[in-house]
Amino acid sequence: MRRPVIAGNWKMYKTIAEAVDFVEKIKPVAESAEHCEVVVAPPFTALAAVAKAAKGSKVAVAAQDVHWDKEGAHTGDVSPLMLSDAGCTHVIIGHSERRQDHAETDDLVNRRLKAALAAGLTPIVCVGETLVEREAGRTLEVLERQFLRGLAGLTSSDFSRIIIAYEPVWAIGTGRTATPEMAAESHRYLRELARRQFGQEEAGAIRILYGGSVKPDNVGGLMAQEEIDGALVGGASLKVDSFSALIQYRRG
Ligand code: PGA
Repeated sequence: MRRPVIAGNWKMYKTIAEAVDFVEKIKPVAESAEHCEVVVAPPFTALAAVAKAAKGSKVAVAAQDVHWDKEGAHTGDVSPLMLSDAGCTHVIIGHSERRQDHAETDDLVNRRLKAALAAGLTPIVCVGETLVEREAGRTLEVLERQFLRGLAGLTSSDFSRIIIAYEPVWAIGTGRTATPEMAAESHRYLRELARRQFGQEEAGAIRILYGGSVKPDNVGGLMAQEEIDGALVGGASLKVDSFSALIQYRRG
């Protein structure tokens, strides 16, 4: 059985005080949610304070990016060790906004991924096609490239420690969600790639989250798909009410 994950990606939102207040309110909700794991990804500035507030609770803390080096002359970057030191257990890697805004490539995703694994962090690796790619019928080809290059050189045991997030770029922040069937098709393909690359058992165990305009009113339909193991949520993770409703989703 794959344990679902509901993860909130806060992007460039929330001051330290707002982030800590949010986590205090969400802790009891996470505590009573037996059916899923709960992760929040605050901006770098709030990581340590949120991790301190979440300590001992069922809320895990993720960073939104990580550098691949242990330390060095990399202005503006943060190392895997620094994330662990701040109390993070997870890190989002290769989000489409990093790919777009910061020229993130699959090869850089791969370097970050290996460094995060080496530091004992749980990576949430994002893949997904743009609208142009989908309309050109290239969705599966793009997913295959991102999967093979992004995850190149991982052992099966490395692979068993990661989480994948399928986020069609055209669905992020647009209010346009992929239908549960569309999402499931991509998830099935990613699982097939996992089977070919890492084996049957690993493919059966990998958790693949869906992301892109997930809201309390569509999460149940998405989670009803056997292929979908949770959600990576942006906008709807910023308010306590909607994030609580997402954590308490009912399949259907
Ligand atoms: P959204 O963002 O839920 O606001 O579409 C999802 C994401 O970017 O992870």
